[in-house]
Amino acid sequence: MADVTLFTPGRIDGFDTKNRFVMAPMTRSRALPGGVPSELAIEYYAQRASAGLIITEGVAPCAAGIGYARTPTAETRDQMAAWKKIVDAVHAKGGRMFMQFMHVGRIGNGENRYTKEPLISASAVRAAGQMWTDSKGMQDLDAPRALETSEIPGVIAQYAAATRNALDAGFDGVELHSASGYLPMQFLSSNTNLRTDAYGGSAQNRIRFVVEALEAMAKAAGTPSKVGIKISPAMPFNDIHDADPVETYTTLVHAIGSMGLAYLHVLKTTIPNTFELLRPLFKGPFLAGGGFSKESGNTALAAGTADFIVFGKLFTSNPDLPARFEQSAALVDPDPSTFYSPGPKGYVDYSALQST
Ligand SMILES: Cc1cc2nc3c(=O)[nH]c(=O)nc-3n(C[C@H](O)[C@H](O)[C@H](O)COP(=O)(O)O)c2cc1C
Repeated sequence: MADVTLFTPGRIDGFDTKNRFVMAPMTRSRALPGGVPSELAIEYYAQRASAGLIITEGVAPCAAGIGYARTPTAETRDQMAAWKKIVDAVHAKGGRMFMQFMHVGRIGNGENRYTKEPLISASAVRAAGQMWTDSKGMQDLDAPRALETSEIPGVIAQYAAATRNALDAGFDGVELHSASGYLPMQFLSSNTNLRTDAYGGSAQNRIRFVVEALEAMAKAAGTPSKVGIKISPAMPFNDIHDADPVETYTTLVHAIGSMGLAYLHVLKTTIPNTFELLRPLFKGPFLAGGGFSKESGNTALAAGTADFIVFGKLFTSNPDLPARFEQSAALVDPDPSTFYSPGPKGYVDYSALQST
């Protein structure tokens, strides 16, 4: 059989993808007050519909999941009506789209939240660091409170409700953001999970929140095959640390490997050979991300290291990235100064090849 390349069609949850490009989930901070995605997002995502699969920016499953300025939610009728227009526009251009659920847990500041509830986390461990707020500039991250054991099913139910909302709006599936130091990773990691109940202590206990969230999302979707997960083992972002990430993540992937999930999405971090370590434990499509180029993506696909390659920054400034790679055209460098700035600049004003 010929080598798989970025341009080989693929398959996720019973639908064919036109290629092996996945657009990474990327927070772009253009949402309106109250967690409603802006109209600009319709154009932004539609411009990128030539990816085999688009994963949305991190979307809070509920108001308590918001931490950053101008980020969207998937809870209310207004929010979902706006999301429906976005996913319809991507489908109209032949694209596929999963919604990523990002509950920040302890990573937030009250200035950015439209709920007055305090931040929640696995334990009351404040993250060192600051974040941008539109009203007061850079601010320290707030201190979180620890979830009571009896509250955990309610938080998991919010992921399930958001799953129903996303699928009702027409999304092809949903992704649990269990990476980058947000709520699920706060349960997984030993410096943020000091719990002594069934959700803390051993690796088996620390993975429980993630496993139960995935089960609830699968039940809400009616099938696990519409539910994916993203992990970033040993990523230090957001002041997170685990004493034994190899043990934690092999335990997790082993536990979810046969659930029939849509995919496992792994962001390469500091564990040597992360992909090679985890891939054999997961039965299903394997998405690898983190610093890939055309060459390294094709090499990983040909070697069987991954089934799909996830591209982040390059998609911000090259909306037609697959065509650019195919034609070996010049790439436009990403511009970090507009990653999170409000408005159209650096968001919807990058041209596709045919119109340059
Ligand atoms: C502007 C920006 C925003 C991001 N926001 C998110 C996010 O909301 N959720 C997430 O899982 N990862 C997020 N990431 C990480 C990307 O999904 C991806 O894992 C990372 O950029 C590495 O891929 P790359 O080297 O191809 O950019 C973000 C990255 C960037 C550059």
